[in-house]
Amino acid sequence: MATLRLGDTAPNFTADSSVGKIELYDYLGDGWGILFSHPADFTPVCTTELGTAAKFKSEFDKRNVKMLALSVDGAASHKEWIKDINEVQQTEVNFPIIADEDKKVSDLYDMIHPKADNNLTVRSVFIIAPDRSIKLILTYPASTGRNFHELLRVIDSLQLTAYHKVATPANWKHGEDVVVSPAIATEDAKQMFKKGVTEVKPYLRMTPDPTA
Ligand code: BEZ
Repeated sequence: MATLRLGDTAPNFTADSSVGKIELYDYLGDGWGILFSHPADFTPVCTTELGTAAKFKSEFDKRNVKMLALSVDGAASHKEWIKDINEVQQTEVNFPIIADEDKKVSDLYDMIHPKADNNLTVRSVFIIAPDRSIKLILTYPASTGRNFHELLRVIDSLQLTAYHKVATPANWKHGEDVVVSPAIATEDAKQMFKKGVTEVKPYLRMTPDPTA
């Protein structure tokens, strides 16, 4: 399998999970998706991540993003681990965890980086658009838990820039000013963005978030 890159079609798969068999495309429906891998069950950082992810589910729901986790242990192990996660994180894991014992999905998505670890996945994140294209790929080492605020922030940017001719600047958060797409002439931008356009430099034009 060639390395997946931004814009590639997210490969479909069928796999067992904590809630039974799942087919990726069927699971995503016509919405967005986030697929994130965990090195192994009953590991401390993963336990905090999955509990945190569960607490953020309503925010992913609001953005029409289906959550799907993956770990290279079996479904029975996942179910036992979920009990622990729910207990120690005081939450309810409310999305499936793929049981990737044969590493079929991990291999398909290049989630095992042998120089990091031969058997366990790194912490990969794939954000998939409704047209099944991959919009974001992140790779964290096993020793670093991910920031779910950042994942929501980047989804806000991806969804905004998918539907408006803008880009989002450093540290941008929903509601803050955005950058006019470089492909648009300033005069055209002034017609397009009714909230106004500020030309800081000919190549740096700002406008209020069109969705705020
Ligand atoms: C963890 O989730 O805590 C973890 C997993 C593999 C290696 C290091 C940490």
